[in-house]
Formats: sequence, structure tokens, C-alpha cells
Amino acid sequence: MHDERIKSNGTREPNQMAHKAQTAATRWGLRSIFSSLVALLIATIILAAIYPAHYGEKQLSFLLGRDREPLFSNLTDIAPSPATSSFEKQLSFLLGRDREPLFSNLTDIAPSPGTSSLCDVFSGSWVFDNVSRPLYKEGQCKYMLGQQACGKFGRKDLKYQQWRWQPHGCDLPRFNATALLERLRNKRLMFVGDSLNRGQWVSLVCMVESSIPKKRRSFSSRRPASIGFNALDYNATIEFYWAPLLVESNCDDPMNHHLDNRIVRVGAIGKHARHWSDVDILIFNSYLWWRESPEIKVSWESFVGPDKNYEMMKMLRAYKIALNTWSDWIQVHVNSSKTQVFFNGMSATHERAEDWGGIADHNCFEETEPITEGGYRVRRSTRGMMHTLRKAVNKLQKRGLDVHVLDITKLSEYRKDAHSSIYKEQTKNLTQHQMANPVTYADCFHWCLPGLPDVWNELLYAYILHN
Ligand SMILES: *[C@@H]1O[C@H](CO)[C@@H](O)[C@H](O)[C@H]1NC(C)=O
Ligand SMILES: *[C@@H]1O[C@H](CO)[C@@H](O)[C@H](O)[C@H]1NC(C)=O
Ligand SMILES: *[C@@H]1O[C@H](CO)[C@@H](O)[C@H](O)[C@H]1NC(C)=O
Ligand SMILES: *[C@@H]1O[C@H](CO)[C@@H](O)[C@H](O)[C@H]1NC(C)=O
Ligand SMILES: *[C@@H]1O[C@H](CO)[C@@H](O)[C@H](O)[C@H]1NC(C)=O
Ligand SMILES: *[C@@H]1O[C@H](CO)[C@@H](O)[C@H](O)[C@H]1NC(C)=O
Ligand SMILES: *[C@@H]1O[C@H](CO)[C@@H](O)[C@H](O)[C@H]1NC(C)=O
Repeated sequence: MHDERIKSNGTREPNQMAHKAQTAATRWGLRSIFSSLVALLIATIILAAIYPAHYGEKQLSFLLGRDREPLFSNLTDIAPSPATSSFEKQLSFLLGRDREPLFSNLTDIAPSPGTSSLCDVFSGSWVFDNVSRPLYKEGQCKYMLGQQACGKFGRKDLKYQQWRWQPHGCDLPRFNATALLERLRNKRLMFVGDSLNRGQWVSLVCMVESSIPKKRRSFSSRRPASIGFNALDYNATIEFYWAPLLVESNCDDPMNHHLDNRIVRVGAIGKHARHWSDVDILIFNSYLWWRESPEIKVSWESFVGPDKNYEMMKMLRAYKIALNTWSDWIQVHVNSSKTQVFFNGMSATHERAEDWGGIADHNCFEETEPITEGGYRVRRSTRGMMHTLRKAVNKLQKRGLDVHVLDITKLSEYRKDAHSSIYKEQTKNLTQHQMANPVTYADCFHWCLPGLPDVWNELLYAYILHN
């Protein structure tokens, strides 16, 4: 396709690339691993015994239709772990009472810094609104991934598409794709992070796509880890860069990595960050890839050859060091008057229905309504990470760098109904056991589109245009 071009230097992708069959493999590799401590070793043994065998499998998904470039050939990804809720139970059991409670009251989450003193847009409630929602139709967005097109993959209850976020003290501005593209003229906006941020990238592309004539938009992929949507008449690009742990790690290949073997180079970020330096609007996230275990393998060396030298570190401590590495980079390389920097809060997961008063051993499967305010509790580890993130951002703000936390944590926690669940492309044939027990393979990490990530983008839009 002639309108498919590589964005950098205006060079065109060779035609045969553009005509390639459009498949990309997504690997859903989110796994939990417990190691190091004796208690954790026991957990590992239990885990090995009960862990379903299908995680190593590649998920193929048709991404963009025949006339598009592959998004990433064999892109791998974090994946929901159906067994996680059992792991957590085992873990809490093994670690006993000296461990922090896993959950605490959601309403304890402190208000975010950097939000307008007039109205905290992150404090509000979900309002059912089938008049103004959804913002686009699932089938009309070519860029939808197989993990997001829930209607296409069998979901019948479509109310999850029709909830609007209503802040308590004000209204969100109405999303206007043309206004956003005007703002992005001759600019680059880039999401950096894991598959949740990639989902938000897809959402934003879906939100602007319909207002651009087909011939005036294009798609490009820059190896190794970035993809971009281009609005040609505006010379505007909306990109995604894969860096699931923000800093460097052995999971930086979007196609080939294993969450359970991850080793994080907490002090190194340059390999990624050089791709961010000319970007005008940066939206970071990094959460789930840290959260899955209480300790994480940390390396201070470069990843050349086998990763032999690592130490185990408490997850939160490693996260803090990584955020410092990130904020040091921001401080040196970002000019606040040119670049807007955002950091997304924690995208919620809904693996334990008990947490919202649901059936034991269930998860987000068959949930069709959001949680209404009050009573629902958020994980302690999530709060710890949110606190760490705020501290890093506050430090930057004290040094004059305006970084905004988009505090999507709480509003996402309410949306137990909005996950992909079983309504996504299943690229591996399910076992009979799985088919008989849908709850075991429901994806309670990622989100359907149209849906929750659209609201994250409305919040982002409010900041970009009105702050
Ligand atoms: C991933 O794709 C590359 C080429 O794009 C190929 O060489 C490699 O074998 C693939 N890896 C797997 C695990 O399929
Ligand atoms: C919107 O929802 C209301 C209440 O659930 C229902 O009565 C009405 O038919 C719906 N309208 C549309 C267009 O779906
Ligand atoms: C959207 O924004 C454009 C450009 O700022 C403006 O011309 C247009 O009137 C807006 N549309 C709506 C419905 O507000
Ligand atoms: C197009 O946008 C890029 C930034 O994304 C900028 O460097 C370049 O100068 C722009 N081109 C024109 C013709 O303005
Ligand atoms: C920051 O960007 C502004 C606007 O582009 C420019 O005027 C200023 O010189 C830059 N500051 C530095 C330190 O580069
Ligand atoms: C959560 O906290 C709020 C206010 O702090 C309180 O009113 C509510 O009862 C608490 N809910 C639970 C389940 O503890
Ligand atoms: C999955 O099942 C279909 C038939 O239902 C079969 O044709 C296909 O070969 C199977 N794929 C694998 C990888 O087992």
C-alpha cells in the first residue's frame, strides 16, 4: 500500500513488506514466579504442580487486515495467569501473618498530586450512558487487537462499552479528534510501557482514526520495539514503545521473552530512552510486570550473553531504583516547556471475586456491572507502588519538571466488568478442562475496546488540551 510508510526520514517500507500477510504473534506470558525465600520455594513447587502448561504458547492474532504491515511479527506480551488467584492464596497462606495484608481499603488511596486544585478528575463515578457511548464502533477500528475485540469474540453483553466517567467536581471535556490532531501537528506522542499501555495506544488510534480519510493515515513499525500511527495531513504520530519494566531488562524483545525468567537492569535505561528523546508527549506506565512476585531478579550488568549474575531484591525496592533511573533520565533529557510527560497509574486486575463480594474461586468472568463506590479494596502492593511513583514524580516536580500522574488506579478498580475475560482471540486450542471451566482462562488483566482505555485517553486528552 502506498500510504504505508516508515515515518522516520520519510523512507518507504518496501512494497513486499506492505503486502505481507498480516499476522502477528502475541505471547501472553504473564506468569508468577516465587523464588529465593524458602517459603517462596515451597510456593514454587506448588506452582509447578498446578500451573497450566499452556503459557509458553504463541498467540497469533490478525492485527490489521491484509493490506497492513505486521504490527510486530511474533510480538510477545504479558499474559494473564488464570492460576494467579490460587497462587495468591497459597502465598498468603505460606507467608503467614507477618506479611502485610494483601489488600487494603480502596478509599485509602490518597488523591494524586499535580491534579488541578479545582477538580480532581480522578475522583468520580461511573455513569451508564448509552447515548454518548461508545465513542467508536468495535468493527470500525482496523487496529483492534485480538485481545480487545470482545464483541467479535463472542461477548454478548455490551454494556461495558457504555460507561462514562463522571468526575465529582466537574465534567470531562468532550473528546474531539480534530482538536487533538491539531494539537499534535508536527509532533510525536508516544506511549511507553507494557501491553496495557499498548492497549491504550490502540484505543487512542481508534478514537482518532475515523476522523481521518483512509488515504491520509498510515502505520509504521520501527524495529525493534516501536509502532506508530501517522495522520499524514497533520504530520502527527501516535506511537507505542515496548518497555514493560521501563528500565532495561531481558524482556525488551517484544517478541521473545518470558515473564517468569525476567531479570531487570534497574540502573540502565539508555537503550530505550534514546528512542524517546525527540518525543513531544510521553505517557509511561510500568506496573504489572513488577507486581507478580514479592521479589525480583536484579542485575547491574549489561545483557550480553547469559544472565547469570543477578541478585534477588524486594520488588518495591527494585521498583524504586528503576523509577529513580527513569526520573534521572527525565531530569537530564526533558525540557518541560517542549515535552509533556505523563505516568499512568496502576491498571487494575480482577482475579479474585471474593474481593468484591463475588463467588469464591471466580474472577472477572461473567461480570457485567462495575463495582459501585465503597467497600472494595485494593492490593497493598499496588498502594506501595503508587506511593513510590508519587514520590518519584514529586521529586521531579520539586526540581521544576512537570510530570503528571494519570491516576487511573481507582477508576479502573471499579471496572470488573470491562476485562477481555474469555472474549478474545484464543490462539491456542483450549483443553477440554479449560472449556469446561471458562474461569480458568479468563483474562482479567486486559480490557475490551471500546471500553475503559478510552476513558484513560479522555483524561489524557483533558490534560493535553486544557492543562
Ligand atoms: C520471530 O520472528 C523472526 C522474524 O521476524 C523469526 O526469525 C523468529 O524465528 C521468530 N521467532 C519465533 C519464536 O517464532
Ligand atoms: C439505553 O438504556 C436505557 C435504560 O437501560 C434503555 O431503556 C434504552 O432502550 C437504551 N437505549 C439504547 C439506544 O440502547
Ligand atoms: C473539534 O475541534 C475542531 C478544531 O478545534 C473544531 O473546529 C470543531 O468545531 C470541534 N468540534 C466540536 C464538535 O466541538
Ligand atoms: C513532522 O514532524 C516531525 C516531528 O514528528 C518534525 O521533526 C518535522 O519537522 C515535521 N515536518 C514538517 C514538514 O514540519
Ligand atoms: C526548552 O524549550 C524552550 C522552547 O522550545 C526553549 O526556548 C528553551 O531554550 C529550551 N531550554 C533548554 C534548556 O534547552
Ligand atoms: C473503607 O473506608 C471508608 C472510609 O475510610 C469506610 O467508610 C468504609 O467502611 C471502608 N470499607 C471497608 C470495607 O472497610
Ligand atoms: C485446533 O483445532 C482445530 C480444529 O478444531 C484444528 O484444525 C487445529 O489443527 C488445532 N490446532 C492445534 C494447534 O492443535
